[in-house]
Amino acid sequence: MKRKFVHNIIQEIKQRWSPRAFNLEKIPEEDIQAIIEAACYAPSCFNEQPWRFLIASEESELNMMRDLLTEKNQRWAKKAPVLILVIAHRYFAYNGKENRWHQFDSGTAWGYLSLEAQKRGLITHGMGGFKNQKTRDSLNISEEYEIIAVIAIGKLGNKDELEEEFKKEEYPSTRRPIKETAWRLTQFLD
Ligand SMILES: Cc1cc2nc3c(=O)[nH]c(=O)nc-3n(C[C@H](O)[C@H](O)[C@H](O)COP(=O)(O)O)c2cc1C
Repeated sequence: MKRKFVHNIIQEIKQRWSPRAFNLEKIPEEDIQAIIEAACYAPSCFNEQPWRFLIASEESELNMMRDLLTEKNQRWAKKAPVLILVIAHRYFAYNGKENRWHQFDSGTAWGYLSLEAQKRGLITHGMGGFKNQKTRDSLNISEEYEIIAVIAIGKLGNKDELEEEFKKEEYPSTRRPIKETAWRLTQFLD
């Protein structure tokens, strides 16, 4: 089924989806830095900016990061020229108390990152499928940080080179209708 948009929303939102077919082409450092900058301009509770990004784009870094993914994700993400680990600081810097919004805010940042990438002709694919404890141990990430996700970034590759299992899912997915997602408060309470 094709995506159908009711409203005239931002072009990059309409275009973005999560392909698994990457090509091996390297991504200029300027693009990597720019999409990180876009992520950093996400709003956050008390402007805490709880997100942190660990970027792998050199072969040695990519090998380390690939090793942290689940086997299924490794099978397609091995071609992505950039893998970014998103971690989030759990505590407010200004008072040391728990920041309940660290994941919410880091999600916003990833959203901004994906749209800036889209604008630059890059594809992104977020992954929750990674080995959490192995990631913490091998990258020496302290308990102050939540390990959130890995993001694959690159250029769109040839779908025909994907394994059959992935090939059949390689298209932009649709969404639940707005009326099943958002309600006027009065309707919700009825
Ligand atoms: C937090 C998060 C975790 C995800 N984990 C995986 C994953 O481990 N493997 C995978 O292939 N896709 C993963 N995805 C991709 C989603 O399946 C995809 O975003 C969703 O189906 C909507 O499709 P779209 O991004 O193409 O619009 C993840 C996405 C997010 C945001």
